[in-house]
Amino acid sequence: MNKDKTTLGLELPTDPRWVNIAEKNIEDILVDHAYCEQKAASSCISLIIMFPEREKLVDVLTPVVAEEWAHFELVIEHLKKRGFKLGKARKDEYVSRLNGIMKKGGTRDEQLVERLLMNALIEARSCERFKLLWKNIEDEELQRFYYDLMVSEAGHYHNFIDLAKEYLPADKVENRWKYFLSEEAKIMKELTPRADRMH
Ligand SMILES: [Fe+2]
Ligand SMILES: [Fe+2]
Repeated sequence: MNKDKTTLGLELPTDPRWVNIAEKNIEDILVDHAYCEQKAASSCISLIIMFPEREKLVDVLTPVVAEEWAHFELVIEHLKKRGFKLGKARKDEYVSRLNGIMKKGGTRDEQLVERLLMNALIEARSCERFKLLWKNIEDEELQRFYYDLMVSEAGHYHNFIDLAKEYLPADKVENRWKYFLSEEAKIMKELTPRADRMH
């Protein structure tokens, strides 16, 4: 397993060619990114709606909703500044494939942990992509933007992992997390890096 802490446990690093092709398609990347932030906010809202009795979850995720929505607003600003439009959402193949990793059934706590780990996984991969963009993109304004997002999404990744450990024993969460990481690596291997997608 990759022990580099900055990859948050991800097993397969992004194909380094992705950042070069992404930079040439910055309009598509920004549009796709805007939808990623929108989905991140909506996913936290759904968790709060589905598990309102989990006090810690509500306390931790309520400010995360606000942060994800602020990210969405910032991406919209970057789009507008460059004369681009948000347009319609495109199919998110990465996330639809990831959803297949989650176990069906089980206790309410197990269901919650599956969802928390799914969120942690998307945060970890997003963080890795923002790091690549920050380090490699030429646009200085976007460099700073991606650096800030990398830091923020890494914080969210820790929020989700810590929350998971509130509801199931740490060893169970860790086993499940290892499974999520290995399945994500398989999915990443199968998906060709796309010039117009964050993932
Ligand atoms: Fe975000
Ligand atoms: Fe996030």
